[in-house]
Amino acid sequence: MQFDLTAKTIYLRLLTEDDAEFVCQLRGDDKLNTFISKTDVDIEVQRQWIKNYKSREQNKKEYYFIICRVDDNRPVGTVRLYDFKEEPKSFCWGSWILNNNKTKYAAVESALLVYEMGFDKLGFDQSHFDVMKGNQSVHDFHLRMGAQQVSEDEQNIYYVFPKQRYEINKEKYAKFLN
Ligand SMILES: CC(C)(COP(=O)(O)OP(=O)(O)OC[C@H]1O[C@@H](n2cnc3c(N)ncnc32)[C@H](O)[C@@H]1OP(=O)(O)O)[C@@H](O)C(=O)NCCC(=O)NCCS
Repeated sequence: MQFDLTAKTIYLRLLTEDDAEFVCQLRGDDKLNTFISKTDVDIEVQRQWIKNYKSREQNKKEYYFIICRVDDNRPVGTVRLYDFKEEPKSFCWGSWILNNNKTKYAAVESALLVYEMGFDKLGFDQSHFDVMKGNQSVHDFHLRMGAQQVSEDEQNIYYVFPKQRYEINKEKYAKFLN
């Protein structure tokens, strides 16, 4: 199974076991992992994790993507849709990381593609996600794109992003998509 999720300078493709090393490099990078949950950076452990993930993907419970450059197909990051809920029909997204090989607007484009996947391809009505306190540029990013803060605790701020806002953004951000 593959989805057509392509923006102007990056596209998403589903994660495979062969991406274990890239994921370890990315999540093991101390400049990038301050505000994400810690994972094992052993390649074989990661490979096994991906094997287990692949059965969740088969069951349509989770989609984990590698973000790649359009110009040379190099992998530049990851992003994941998971925790699919009913009433309201809502998906969570995260594992969002981009390395130094990213394109200038890879962040905007990958967020737009996540919403295209969640709303257009999977039929959700809402997205939910959390961002660790202190990860200020990421809070600013989500607010700028139209996320709404719904709650907070000691560690995180919780957001929702409604489908209506996605419909508005499709036009507003069209230049990032084609
Ligand atoms: C989260 C992450 C993927 C975001 O990527 P990023 O490249 O830092 O994103 P930015 O906010 O800098 O946005 C990229 C560009 O798009 C611009 N941009 C952001 N939102 C925009 C919007 N709504 N409209 C237009 N432009 C926008 C930014 O201004 C920036 O351009 P600039 O360099 O000229 O300022 C990256 O910072 C990362 O990997 N962080 C470490 C892991 C992490 O914390 N992940 C999130 C866990 S919740």
